[in-house]
Amino acid sequence: MSSRQYLIAANWKLNGNTELANEIFAELQNTLVDNSIEVLVCPPALYLGGIQAKLQNDYQPLSDKLKLGAQTLSAYQQGAYTGELSGAMLKEFGASYVIVGHSERRALFSESNQVVAEKFAACLSQGLMPILCVGETLEERETEQTFAVIEQMLTSIVERNGVEAFANAVIAYEPVWAIGTGKSATSEQAQQVHKFIRQFVAKLSAVTADNIKILYGGSVNPSNAAEIFAQPDVDGGLIGGASLKSAQFKELCEIAKSA
Ligand code: PGA
Repeated sequence: MSSRQYLIAANWKLNGNTELANEIFAELQNTLVDNSIEVLVCPPALYLGGIQAKLQNDYQPLSDKLKLGAQTLSAYQQGAYTGELSGAMLKEFGASYVIVGHSERRALFSESNQVVAEKFAACLSQGLMPILCVGETLEERETEQTFAVIEQMLTSIVERNGVEAFANAVIAYEPVWAIGTGKSATSEQAQQVHKFIRQFVAKLSAVTADNIKILYGGSVNPSNAAEIFAQPDVDGGLIGGASLKSAQFKELCEIAKSA
């Protein structure tokens, strides 16, 4: 067995506020004392600085165990790009991870594989850990294109970022049909795709394939998490809806601790 530590990552999307962070930190204080899992919270970027200050001032023991991240970043470092936030800016306000290529960004904000690869590069250039999201739509699954779609998403990252692309990265398998629908992938479906992703990475580097965390995301909740997290190639979860309820989020962390 590999020594990969579980990562439980909260993706708040366009939800939450400083008070939610406070509730989650209060809930997690006793859960994270032993360093057995990693926990990440990705609030809307505007809240990063305030949440980081709260963590450091009011929850000191948690502050080196719980990381903060952003949900996207600009592909650009600086310049005339109205409304954008660079990796350096996010880092200054406490982010150490950035979610890249979430299916909502791909579908609703027209982020192509090429744009996602640029954003991935922007993360690496700032020493930020990208969490690359990949996953198929229902139609792609039903027409047996799941592996081809995911392979293309991974390949475009490698074409832009080189064979070492995944040495400092996390990958999240998020079937689009499972996100926010209440219908998660089965543990078998998840394991099958996670294994495929790890094998893809292994062709580039056996060491990276052994070390990289591959998270599952899509309607993870306390009643399906144990079975999914128990799969050999599942190293934790990217949690949307259930990360907005502090008690459920804590429960997911506890499940990961005993997985
Ligand atoms: P969900 O979202 O847990 O609400 O399905 C997961 C995600 O989009 O990362």
